[in-house]
Amino acid sequence: MFQKIRPQDLQYFATQLSPEQVLIDEESLARCASDHTEDFIFLPEVVLQPRNTVEVSAIMAYCCQHHISVTPRGAGTGISGGALAIMGGVVLDMRLMNKIIKLDSNNFQVTVEPGMITEELQNTLLANGLYYPPDPASRGSCFIGGNIAENSGGPRAVKYGVVKDYVLNLQLVLPNGDVIWTGANTLKNATGYNLTQLVVGSEGTLGIITQIVLRLIPAVQHSLLMLIPFAHNHEACNAVNTICMAGITPSALEFMERDALVCAINHLQSSAITLPPDINAHLLVELDGNYPEQLLLEAEKISDLMAPYTIGEILLAQDDAQKTALWQLRRIVGEAVKGDSIYKEEDTVVPRAYLPDLLAKVKEIGAAYGFRSVCYGHAGDGNLHVNIVKDNMSDHDWQHHLPLGIREIFTYVVGIGGTISGEHGIGYVQKDYLDIAFSPTQIALMRAIKHVFDPTGILNPGKIFAN
Ligand code: LAC
Ligand code: ZN
Repeated sequence: MFQKIRPQDLQYFATQLSPEQVLIDEESLARCASDHTEDFIFLPEVVLQPRNTVEVSAIMAYCCQHHISVTPRGAGTGISGGALAIMGGVVLDMRLMNKIIKLDSNNFQVTVEPGMITEELQNTLLANGLYYPPDPASRGSCFIGGNIAENSGGPRAVKYGVVKDYVLNLQLVLPNGDVIWTGANTLKNATGYNLTQLVVGSEGTLGIITQIVLRLIPAVQHSLLMLIPFAHNHEACNAVNTICMAGITPSALEFMERDALVCAINHLQSSAITLPPDINAHLLVELDGNYPEQLLLEAEKISDLMAPYTIGEILLAQDDAQKTALWQLRRIVGEAVKGDSIYKEEDTVVPRAYLPDLLAKVKEIGAAYGFRSVCYGHAGDGNLHVNIVKDNMSDHDWQHHLPLGIREIFTYVVGIGGTISGEHGIGYVQKDYLDIAFSPTQIALMRAIKHVFDPTGILNPGKIFAN
């Protein structure tokens, strides 16, 4: 269906870019054959590493003309398969476009290229007194461009919002090579359709993001981190709402069930905490602000609010090292579960107060279908990551029976006003479930939008929509 890469194509790329930006060696192809999604491997035919927008535009125009599929790639940390080159063709590896173009402190804005590591961007901004809050668990290795493509969230979304809340304007190379800006560098914009927000979260299917203008906020001076152990899963979930209803907005409000934390502790060989046998869940609660005494008052109030629940001793991190150790445990859960067993990651999200019902339903469906799940995630957002582990399930059941169970979970989630992905995207692995979230009319509208941007369908084919 797509044109295979021929010697003359490689020749063209090598003259438009330079030969060292055109990679066909085994190691480079293998590196770009997978992302962090399950165990998928799709070898691209060539990896191109553009250095600027002009080069991206030349590649896209050529691939469009010759009907070559192009899969954009950030750091490959995605877990819905957005960066998998399932049709082979070109992988557009954005790692060389990794600079801050302009830091406009007066306007609280930064213009950055997509290949910059999110944490590096955050640290540079912090050194200038500025804060870009969205911090996916993989922030130490993921790229900001991938975060925009997936509309990533992360733990701080509960207070600060997700990526979409910080993107003002995007430079975009369309599949035919045309270059546009999607909006304006302003905090307000009521001019025409909002192309910026259409591209945010479009999973690399509408265009290649080559520059990003982000809104920033002043750096926050202080934070406080508490780990609250619960005897029961459902009480931990209920406590989330208790905290929020008391008028406290933590800067992170994370849930980990026992198995998630055990996995993380083992994976890191961590001695940061001990896990008593009667404890089945934890909430990791971060408070931030500019007045430490205010944070302490809120922490005390949270402790008081826990009175109705069966909890263990609350751990209040004493210094930065302890905070880092606790956050490491939380951030490593996904990777740790993956290291333990074959698994599938579901990214359910519901209106926050329904979190206890969601967790109970997941366990109930798990019992009916015979699968074990390890659940954790951004409880403050009602966003529960459900890692379904294969354990001893037969290959047949894993492939044919389990999807019915996942369908049941997703149908439940949508039925209570939630949706099937909060922050990981649909990509390759969830596309067969899109019909649960959207009616045929909605899907037809989305397909039509895709067609307007990419009439020949060369950009990131096989993603979002079932074939
Ligand atoms: C996390 C990723 C998997 O929250 O979204 O750890
Ligand atoms: Zn997450």
